[in-house]
Amino acid sequence: MANTILVGAQWGDEGKGKIIDVMTEKADIVVRYAGGNNAGHTVFIGKKKYILHLVPSGILRKGKLCVIGNGVVVDPVSLVKEIQGLRKLGVKVGPNLVVSETAHVVLPYHRELDAQREVLKGKNKIGTTKRGIGPAYGDKAARVGLRMIDLIHPERMESKLRWRISENNEVLRALGAKPLSFKTVLAEYRVAGNYLKPFVANTVVLLHEAMQRGNDVLFEGAQGTFLDIDHGTYPFVTSSNTTAGGACTGSGVPPHRMDRVVGVMKAYTTRVGEGPLPTENAEISDLLHGMGREFGATTGRPRRCGWFDSVATRHATMVNGIDGLAVTNLDGLDSVETIKVCVAYRHGKARYDFVPNDAQTLAECQPVYVEFEGWRTPTDKARSWKQLPPKARAYLKAIAELSDAKLFIASVGPAREQTIFV
Ligand code: IMP
Repeated sequence: MANTILVGAQWGDEGKGKIIDVMTEKADIVVRYAGGNNAGHTVFIGKKKYILHLVPSGILRKGKLCVIGNGVVVDPVSLVKEIQGLRKLGVKVGPNLVVSETAHVVLPYHRELDAQREVLKGKNKIGTTKRGIGPAYGDKAARVGLRMIDLIHPERMESKLRWRISENNEVLRALGAKPLSFKTVLAEYRVAGNYLKPFVANTVVLLHEAMQRGNDVLFEGAQGTFLDIDHGTYPFVTSSNTTAGGACTGSGVPPHRMDRVVGVMKAYTTRVGEGPLPTENAEISDLLHGMGREFGATTGRPRRCGWFDSVATRHATMVNGIDGLAVTNLDGLDSVETIKVCVAYRHGKARYDFVPNDAQTLAECQPVYVEFEGWRTPTDKARSWKQLPPKARAYLKAIAELSDAKLFIASVGPAREQTIFV
């Protein structure tokens, strides 16, 4: 396997966790490059279900090195819990996990500010995961953030934290929220810092040395293209570069070392949180929720669902340079009689073949649909392209073509074996 970037081609929750797990078999190293514990990657192995938030899914396979890159924001308390949880499930976590010393740290005032800002925004809220992601990246850009290297040096941590808590408490008081106790936060973060110290290293040098030795790297994207801070439906986005470019800045691996980009997309569309979703549809939402599908892995919130939006996925191909597509959740459409696919947007007299930058304009867009006859046959037992119903194959071919990329994988269920390489 060459160095591969794997990105979400929609609004997140495309089923990246499972595809990464399948592709990890051929990789030596798996790197997370953006986001924080707002992400939730679900992987099923046999009957066991693993939900990963910060740790790359590669941890579930023996002999793989997992890296949390500099572009990630790390909530150390949450990372400790995640490592402990994995160990309880029998997963080995030790030298196979390395955290960048320059990754920024999420602190309790970030979470508090995240929640307070959402309240202040009222009906214009973003619908964040309330994990403090936006304020943590905000501090990074404002150059007042604490990094993992600070966390593992107690004296540095103490002085920086004292300063940050005193300033943030002023803001919290002004917002009518409870100020934080420096002592309590310091004590909690000291414990986490001690626990995480053996995992912290210079991951840029580590990755370069590994690549020199010929190791193949899989860059694990979190969230999706339209949640990207630059290319998403701003302001209804997350606070990092979730698109392929983020893999370079978020890991320190230069663009010319990247060999291919795989885009993961569902056979339909979902979104959690607020913001425009042109193909949102009550009928398909009810159907999927009725099947017990499409509830958020991090917050448990029901996801908003809609028809496949090829304007969005085509845009994602353009922004990420997607070479191959992995289409997941095909089986979610097994019972649908007529399947719609959005091929363009209408806005008044204008027609859009790409996603307009302004969220307001996008919210006002009407989808232009083409219809496909459903296959109305279970696909979850299919293990090869030939075993898929002809109408499902036609649908997959059409959505890949409309998305301007080659079909690479079709996934018909959460298990590893429910993966069809095309
Ligand atoms: P934040 O990343 O918590 O600030 O949330 C910003 C927006 O991104 C909200 O609409 C969230 O629902 C969405 N979001 C964040 N992480 C994920 C994810 O892993 N999957 C899907 N949506 C997400």
